[in-house]
Amino acid sequence: MRHNVGVLAAAAPTAQVMAVVKADGYGHGAEAVARAALAGGATWLGVCTIEEALDLRAAGITAPLLSWLHLPDDDFGAAIAADVDLSASSREHLAAIVAAARAAGRRVRLHLKVDTGLSRGGAPMAALPDLLDDAAKATADGTAEVVAVWSHLAHADAPHHPVLDVQAERLDAAWRAARDRGLGRGGVLLRHLANSAATLTRPDLHLDIVRPGIAVYGLDPLDRPVPQSPLRPAMTLRARVALAKRVPAGEGVSYGHEWTTPHETVLALLPVGYADGVPRRLNARGRMQVLLDGRLRPVVGRVCMDQVVVDCGPGSDVRTGDTAVLFGPGAHGEPTAQDWADELGTIHYEIATGVHGRRVARTVVGGAA
Ligand SMILES: Cc1ncc(COP(=O)(O)O)c(C=O)c1O
Repeated sequence: MRHNVGVLAAAAPTAQVMAVVKADGYGHGAEAVARAALAGGATWLGVCTIEEALDLRAAGITAPLLSWLHLPDDDFGAAIAADVDLSASSREHLAAIVAAARAAGRRVRLHLKVDTGLSRGGAPMAALPDLLDDAAKATADGTAEVVAVWSHLAHADAPHHPVLDVQAERLDAAWRAARDRGLGRGGVLLRHLANSAATLTRPDLHLDIVRPGIAVYGLDPLDRPVPQSPLRPAMTLRARVALAKRVPAGEGVSYGHEWTTPHETVLALLPVGYADGVPRRLNARGRMQVLLDGRLRPVVGRVCMDQVVVDCGPGSDVRTGDTAVLFGPGAHGEPTAQDWADELGTIHYEIATGVHGRRVARTVVGGAA
């Protein structure tokens, strides 16, 4: 992750890097990611919820931190007390944030989010003047300062899509309108727009801060295969064999007996299942494989909540306690998160963020950042 942030920082030399560590660092563990990202050159961290932001602060992370997805009755006071920058997308949100700042007797740092074309979060362009006026009032009375005007792209994975330019123009117009009202911090009003894909492909959209997420984790936003990507996938999902046993021919395996041993064979039971982030649909076509005992071996039968069964073949000397790799960077022939995504018709984001829960122990390798 340090390496990947270095790649992103080098790709955007004139911008600061805000590493996006929402959803528990895309399933990698937010605190470890945050530390690695800051060591790799990020100067900001970005999360969705205030809870995510407070968790990072509780872990001792003091870097500038933006939280951007809120309900108007969220605990903004706690965020302000923890020195978290807050995004506001509407007058209602802004009013709630400003009220919390007033109650706390502290000035809140705001990033005003503009909907430039994704139609998700952000103030629509037509609603922007009112939001800016409210922000100017809160600035004038010392309750707030506006750090940035920002937005999020709809087609970043298609670098030449015309909507990218439309969004950039709208953000620029919003930024100018904010500047005309004197908004900014110490005379500076930042802009941020680019996610991972735009960081790597659209230098003209880097602006003041880039906000990469997926690329921090080494998963290529342009779907380049690992050898062609400058990024290195960070996550490897392993499981140890809980039971290895010889089974005769003709035995049905796992729920519904969708697979039957064609001959005597050695089966290995891995204690990992759909509750841990191995999608049940992954083996619907019987094509899931794991790297075990030096070879790719098929998962047979249905993926269960807590376990999968691997056919190791009649000559295998796989033992209880051996380690299987379910996916990883692919450097040793193991499947990748991209392989899983392709099999499932989804994106690697969903694979990585799906690996979570108390049963999946995380080991951070590469030293404390
Ligand atoms: C607002 C915002 N910015 C940045 C990102 C990072 O995007 P990516 O993971 O594609 O780099 C996300 C993730 O979805 C996001 O919601």
